[in-house]
Amino acid sequence: MSRKHLLIIYHSKSGKNATLAQAVFKGANHKDIDIDVHFMTPVEANYTDLMWADGIIFGTPENFGYMSGMLKDFFDRTFYEVEGKVDGIPFAIFIGAGTDGQGALNSIRTICRGYKFKEVQEPILVVGKVTHTIIRKCEELGMTMAAGLECGIF
Ligand SMILES: Cc1cc2nc3c(=O)[nH]c(=O)nc-3n(C[C@H](O)[C@H](O)[C@H](O)COP(=O)(O)O)c2cc1C
Repeated sequence: MSRKHLLIIYHSKSGKNATLAQAVFKGANHKDIDIDVHFMTPVEANYTDLMWADGIIFGTPENFGYMSGMLKDFFDRTFYEVEGKVDGIPFAIFIGAGTDGQGALNSIRTICRGYKFKEVQEPILVVGKVTHTIIRKCEELGMTMAAGLECGIF
């Protein structure tokens, strides 16, 4: 069976989501899990990355009650290129916001319904400080997605 591919796409302006993303990436690269992981920003990513992916984790701040403009731009640039070719791809979300985050979460979910992606993990929404517990949760998210892809359970 060919190695599975996990794509982690995150945007961060001031570092919070970068910290969460690093933890997700670390978890996904667990030594006992044998998959390929790509880790990038929405600016670097394009539709070929979606075509490569067997699973995706999106991370973003909330800006003005929505996902970051950079992540929205990524969706805008890729939707028609992959429409109908990525149905059912499992995904998960993490959000590091200031006080809310629900708008970012809802907006990603709405768009992912358009792509016909399948949400397979509870989202992580962080409005306070990034604690050790939060870091562990992010590592677990990465590890669970990676392990699930490797075993073919999604
Ligand atoms: C222009 C702008 C708009 C923002 N709007 C919201 C918002 O609507 N809701 C919220 O909870 N936080 C909002 N924030 C706060 C960010 O989501 C928060 O600082 C986040 O942790 C930044 O993540 P980062 O450090 O990865 O860039 C906003 C920040 C900026 C710069």
